[in-house]
Amino acid sequence: MHKKGFIFDLDGVIVDTAKYHFLAWKKLAKTIGVDFSEAQNEQLKGVSRVSSLEKILEWGNKTLSDEDFTNLMSKKNEDYLSYIHKMNASEILPDVSKVLDFLINSKQGIALGSASKNATPILKKVHLLEKFEAIVDGNDVAKAKPDPEVFLIGAKLLGMNPEDCIVFEDSVAGVQAANTANMISIGIGEKSVLHEADFIFKDFTEMPQEFIEQIISGQINKQ
Ligand code: G6P
Ligand code: MG
Repeated sequence: MHKKGFIFDLDGVIVDTAKYHFLAWKKLAKTIGVDFSEAQNEQLKGVSRVSSLEKILEWGNKTLSDEDFTNLMSKKNEDYLSYIHKMNASEILPDVSKVLDFLINSKQGIALGSASKNATPILKKVHLLEKFEAIVDGNDVAKAKPDPEVFLIGAKLLGMNPEDCIVFEDSVAGVQAANTANMISIGIGEKSVLHEADFIFKDFTEMPQEFIEQIISGQINKQ
């Protein structure tokens, strides 16, 4: 029997939390007099909380004391959590549950590989936590994406070699991390943004079941 390890990013792949991160960062940026656009938000996808604030400060040409930096990060997270608190299973992105169930029925390894420190509460909110054999999130890694650490730990927890793993990602940093880990990278989103991925689908509704079957059987490999 063929067994592979499927590693899912969370934000933008399983749930559309990018809109909540955007609202929370925009509010924060405003309080320090920095403009923050949707295009800049795109560049924060997959990027850790600390690095995100560093980037925003850099774009706005601002510096902060360590204390203010820490305070702003927790304010952003409080604000973000107020949106998360209201989430439910209706916010799972199209066909995600279908793909997870297909993989479970096909006895494949399934892990989460996310930069978020809020991954477990979010998965609980949308009732998907029990579908994952392993969870690797921002609390478990020292190095943020594009470093491959998060996915390499995921592969290890699944008991799989990196080359037998497949990563679903919506961010450029995450696709790069998967490629560096020597895993098949599947971009979920726009071709123009995710062109470094081995395969790209707009969303899971566009990904045929035969495609997953061929990955499992080894007929489709890293490009
Ligand atoms: C994901 C999101 C990023 C976010 C990061 C950390 O990768 O795409 O936008 O900054 O997680 O999330 P956290 O929930 O820990 O602030
Ligand atoms: Mg993401």
